[in-house]
Amino acid sequence: MHVDPRTIVITGASDGIGAAAARELTARGHRVVLVGRSPEKTRALAAELGAPFHLADYAELDQVRRLAAELAAAYPRIDVLANNAGGIMGDRTITVDGYEKTFQVNHLAGFLLTTLLLPTLVASDATVIQTSSRAARAFGRFDIEDLQNEKAYSPHVAYGNGKLANILFTRELDRRYADEGISTAAFHPGIVGSNFASDTTHPMRFVYHTPLIKNLFTTSSSKGAEQLVWLAEGQPGTTWERGEYYEKQKVVASSAHARDDGLARRLWDESEQMVA
Ligand SMILES: NC(=O)c1ccc[n+]([C@@H]2O[C@H](COP(=O)([O-])OP(=O)(O)OC[C@H]3O[C@@H](n4cnc5c(N)ncnc54)[C@H](OP(=O)(O)O)[C@@H]3O)[C@@H](O)[C@H]2O)c1
Repeated sequence: MHVDPRTIVITGASDGIGAAAARELTARGHRVVLVGRSPEKTRALAAELGAPFHLADYAELDQVRRLAAELAAAYPRIDVLANNAGGIMGDRTITVDGYEKTFQVNHLAGFLLTTLLLPTLVASDATVIQTSSRAARAFGRFDIEDLQNEKAYSPHVAYGNGKLANILFTRELDRRYADEGISTAAFHPGIVGSNFASDTTHPMRFVYHTPLIKNLFTTSSSKGAEQLVWLAEGQPGTTWERGEYYEKQKVVASSAHARDDGLARRLWDESEQMVA
């Protein structure tokens, strides 16, 4: 299927799934805009692909605000925003903004970037993609009264909650902005042997960073990027359904929390207040 070249902004593009998606989408003729945290890694990929790049550490919301201003000024049209940056963290850490780091990096920063870019995204009839995870269902316990994971913190539960927030954000973005032309979806990329879990103290680290176990249980970043590429190149409403969560290119219900529209609304309202 021929797809006209699109302007595709990918966050977390310096490594893993984001970098693999950037390579594939560039090879398919799209204009890919890289967003990374590490200046060295992001610059190196930008040089390899001949792509523009921007930098922001999501652990500081002012960097996200600067990033949004840079993107809005540089790209009058953004066809796809892939909110892919994220990961599992170590001990409970509070960011300079006062929020728990897993929550901020996996959800709040992407929420802020997307909402700041809404004028451009609406004008572009854009697709907004969230890289979520099956961890939302496996570990997410989601207590809207405890978004900062203060009660009994553990890295995997905080991560599951962050990935659940990605699905709830997808539903609510669809409810609020589908009529204005925004199409949105979340997906689980598989168990991908990327740089994921390199910062955590959680035992999950051993699955991803012990060579023998990694070879047995994980797939490649390019395999993990396949659904991102499929969503980015697709025709929303035709090749995929708006507002849904995907695994292996099929709509999956995820958990009861993930289907709770009231929760999705509350998360949006709370997030809006946090970034105000
Ligand atoms: N790997 C898996 O099995 C798996 C499964 C389900 C979902 N996912 C999700 O897939 C997405 C991509 O993960 P991956 O597997 O490709 O892992 P990765 O190789 O560790 O890549 C993560 C990307 O996110 C960026 N990032 C991390 N912390 C950041 C911060 N504070 N500010 C800005 N950017 C930050 C990283 O930047 P640096 O290069 O600077 O670290 C990197 O570009 C994540 O959202 C993850 O939760 C992964």
